[in-house]
Amino acid sequence: MARIIAGIGSSHVPAIGAALDNNKTEEPYWKRVFSGFEKSQAWMREIKPDVAIVVYNDHASTFSVEMIPTFALGCAAEFPPADEGWGPRPVPVVQGHPALASHIAQSVILDEFDLTICNKMEVDHGMTVPMNLLFGKIDKNGHWPCPVIPLAVNVVMYPPPTGHRCYMLGKAIRKAVESYPEDLKVVIFGTGGLSHQISGPRAGLINPKWDKAFLDNLSKNPKKLSKIPHVDYMREAGAEGIEMVMWLIMRGALDDKVDEVYRFYTVPASNTAVGHIILENRWRGGKVAARRKAPAGKRKAPAVKHKRAAARARSARLSGMR
Ligand SMILES: [Fe+2]
Repeated sequence: MARIIAGIGSSHVPAIGAALDNNKTEEPYWKRVFSGFEKSQAWMREIKPDVAIVVYNDHASTFSVEMIPTFALGCAAEFPPADEGWGPRPVPVVQGHPALASHIAQSVILDEFDLTICNKMEVDHGMTVPMNLLFGKIDKNGHWPCPVIPLAVNVVMYPPPTGHRCYMLGKAIRKAVESYPEDLKVVIFGTGGLSHQISGPRAGLINPKWDKAFLDNLSKNPKKLSKIPHVDYMREAGAEGIEMVMWLIMRGALDDKVDEVYRFYTVPASNTAVGHIILENRWRGGKVAARRKAPAGKRKAPAVKHKRAAARARSARLSGMR
């Protein structure tokens, strides 16, 4: 059976993609940002997911103001990078997982979440920037390390879905994944945010206090976040801060209690606060950790206290700026 083993929250600032594509990662301004993801990339190489589900929003690349689905699931075999005005990003075409995506669509829609099924779509920086941050820079002639299922969420035109709806959709996605018969390790990304506003009198707004509380509650008390109304995101985190509801889809797909193994926060990147968090489901996280340490041929499921200890050790190893 397939399992969601971990959730990743990450900003998807387009300027991060431009810095990567134009080889500016070693410049002091950008090094501060990219260095916060080095341990995350090492974590990802260890975890080696079979599939990633990436929750993101389209920025008028595949959709436009003429047609904006609230939730759109990518069921295609591949997703080319979109031309966002200066040509497609030089990243590989994203390979999808049509069988699992179709299974998720069936399960979630029969659970009364009315997804739009996309059998053809291009993907923009909202998806490819977090993939770069977690998988590393990959030449356009290379390959992303695993298939990816895109889930695009409308956070660009009112009304976006509520945080509660997003959180419950995450739970439905988890149920769908766990009813898929193949033994797959799945990770789920929630992307966007954190606090930022890109236009109007409050352009440049960043609210670190709000962002920290969001990350704290995402880890420990996500139900509290699911009750936050849109107007609070707008007031406290800026007009584009509403992107943070997408992190609640990721969080809803995880256990109620998770191990936070890494967090990174820096200000600014472009005019945005950059936030990042890695949350592991305890059972799977412990099992993965135990396999890393156990000698070949002597691998077995760890006792509960050992699982928690492994997660604590991993957290200490990965701990960065908090
Ligand atoms: Fe965005």
